[in-house]
Amino acid sequence: MSSDADHVPVLVEETLRYLLPERPFRGAGLFVDATLGLGGHAEALLEAAPAARLLGIDRDPDALAQSRDRLARFGERVRFAEGSFSEVADLLERSGWAGGGGLQIVGIYADLGVSSLQLDTAGRGFSFRFDAPLDMRMGRRGPTAAEIVNSYPEADLARIFREYGEERQARRIARALVAAREERPVETTGALRRVILDAKGGGGRREGRVDPATRVFQALRIEVNRELAELERFLEEAIRLLDTDGRLVVISYHSLEDRIVKNTLRNLARGEIDQVTGRPRAESRVIEVLTKKPVTPGPDEVARNPRSRSAKLRAARRRALDS
Ligand SMILES: C[S@@+](CC[C@H](N)C(=O)[O-])C[C@H]1O[C@@H](n2cnc3c(N)ncnc32)[C@H](O)[C@@H]1O
Repeated sequence: MSSDADHVPVLVEETLRYLLPERPFRGAGLFVDATLGLGGHAEALLEAAPAARLLGIDRDPDALAQSRDRLARFGERVRFAEGSFSEVADLLERSGWAGGGGLQIVGIYADLGVSSLQLDTAGRGFSFRFDAPLDMRMGRRGPTAAEIVNSYPEADLARIFREYGEERQARRIARALVAAREERPVETTGALRRVILDAKGGGGRREGRVDPATRVFQALRIEVNRELAELERFLEEAIRLLDTDGRLVVISYHSLEDRIVKNTLRNLARGEIDQVTGRPRAESRVIEVLTKKPVTPGPDEVARNPRSRSAKLRAARRRALDS
């Protein structure tokens, strides 16, 4: 089991500061929490914006069940949607609050990655702290990590470990995995970790602060959950859905995600390049970036909640299209 500290939402004050232009927030619009998880950010937001509504999305039905309990006291102000945040437009439509629902969308936010519930539940297969079936799916759809390690060609495994895990020994580990699965399928977190450790040598010595298996596990998790493609699609949709002056806040936990957030926001803030002049067209600047640099947790938060260590928050404001 995890401790209470694991369930503390990351950068919660900073998230509210960017989502709510004034405090207390009197607006009656709609917020979308794209990664509801255990509902920590959502709870703080619903308290700080007493007239607002919130649609909470998560692809993990277990997370939704827990946050339903936690947020029950807000009654009709909250609705829940199971699905991927890349489908935020559809999920909003189905919630009955979009378009015809008449509510302005004043804020959309995502706190990316896995929840402590997922990491600390042995059977979900996210962590090599427990020997468990190699699943790693945040939701219930799509191939598991076991299906991927036992079926992908060696070259694809190597690419995934290199690109998504920034693993220097990606090819060597991919080769070892293919050899191991010819003997017997690699079905558990423990079996995968052993293959990685044997391929790397070093007897499982930590690499700096991290376990030698960490990078490959991160890479597989990103592949299983299509995390980067999900994020790209989500950002596009979220910006499109926001009403004028609506806010977007994204908290990411590794450099691949942060790069996507940073570049997407920068491009949308700069505007489209005019083919004739070669300069950005001012009228196509869809957002203003509110965070020149990413916001990171202070030492107190990191000490209280080590999971916040790598968090980076970026925020933007939707412009009026003709401003
Ligand atoms: C870091 S946790 C969120 C924690 C939450 N902010 C809180 O205060 O409890 C991330 C959550 O996002 C969900 N998630 C990640 N990627 C998703 C996606 N593409 N679509 C929907 N949910 C996703 C995960 O299932 C997980 O529950």
